[in-house]
Amino acid sequence: MKLHEFPRYPLTFGPSPLQHLKRLTQHLGGAQVWAKREDVSSGLAFGGNKTRKLEYIVPDVLASGADTLVSIGGYQSNHTRQVAAVAAHLGLKARLVQEKWVPWEDPVNDKVGNILLSRMMGADSRLDAAGFDIGIRDSWKNALAEVQAAGGTPYPIPAGASEHPLGGLGFANWAFEVAEQEKQFGVFFDTVVVCTVTGSTHAGMIAGFAALEDLTGVKRRVIGIDASATLEKTRDQVARIARNTAALIELGRDLRDDEIQVLKGWAGELYGIPVDSTMDAMALGAQLEAMITDPVYEGKSLAGLIDLVSSGDIPRDSTVLYAHLGGQPAANAYHRLWDPTA
Ligand SMILES: Cc1ncc(COP(=O)(O)O)c(C=O)c1O
Repeated sequence: MKLHEFPRYPLTFGPSPLQHLKRLTQHLGGAQVWAKREDVSSGLAFGGNKTRKLEYIVPDVLASGADTLVSIGGYQSNHTRQVAAVAAHLGLKARLVQEKWVPWEDPVNDKVGNILLSRMMGADSRLDAAGFDIGIRDSWKNALAEVQAAGGTPYPIPAGASEHPLGGLGFANWAFEVAEQEKQFGVFFDTVVVCTVTGSTHAGMIAGFAALEDLTGVKRRVIGIDASATLEKTRDQVARIARNTAALIELGRDLRDDEIQVLKGWAGELYGIPVDSTMDAMALGAQLEAMITDPVYEGKSLAGLIDLVSSGDIPRDSTVLYAHLGGQPAANAYHRLWDPTA
């Protein structure tokens, strides 16, 4: 099927807003920097990138007759919060496995921010001591079996919705949305910068921009900034999901290696733990643009963008689009970072 033929259940207000980050651009003194704001594009519990992915998954949920969405993430998972939001919106239940993905010893890390919002929306959110892994987990399989044993009909949504067969479609369509907005704004983004961890956001974009390139002949650079700190796993997962998504939308060719770029350098040692460059990027985005980013994902990809623009790796005459994928509620669970008395 072609991309536009896949059913899409609207969960967003429409195309996510584009914003020229003029003060950040001026400060960096290089390429023009714009942002596309997934963080302010839905009314469902602050939205974010998973909301867009779920637009292509919900039709399958509804067709399946399931009554419970079952998903997994860290304590401060944005993904599970968005699954809880979509469940509430559809009148379904949500069973969430929240693993201890981050060794961040903040006394409220498992109580505030995303997990608080999920519980407020009625999700059955349970903590699990297992550590970080983007793969398929036993704890999640067990939760599926438990829902079934209790007489429910579960619908499985893996971490980040990435291993779901339709998980890449939302951001494949993002590429076409960008092309439409470029016409409206009279701008062309030769470079896109996106945070990548479980992979289907970046992978979807790769497939979508490849399809767009084949239609228009215009090449772009789509740069994934690793925030997983398990680079090889994320790189493999991005490549695999990009190829699967490309096949699903009938791209009709293999993806080239230059179309799959995951860069390292800004994740630090561990997923979920900010490093100096994360903190500097978060401060710069907040103080120059009041653009709030989180210490797990967007602070790291913004740090990547800042370095690539400042160093001229992304040339001065470029116009670069930063995909802001959401994630701000997690900042509450990291309050120590900004507490002058801590
Ligand atoms: C705010 C935010 N940014 C980036 C990502 C990375 O997206 P993906 O898991 O699709 O690679 C996530 C989720 O993992 C997220 O919640």
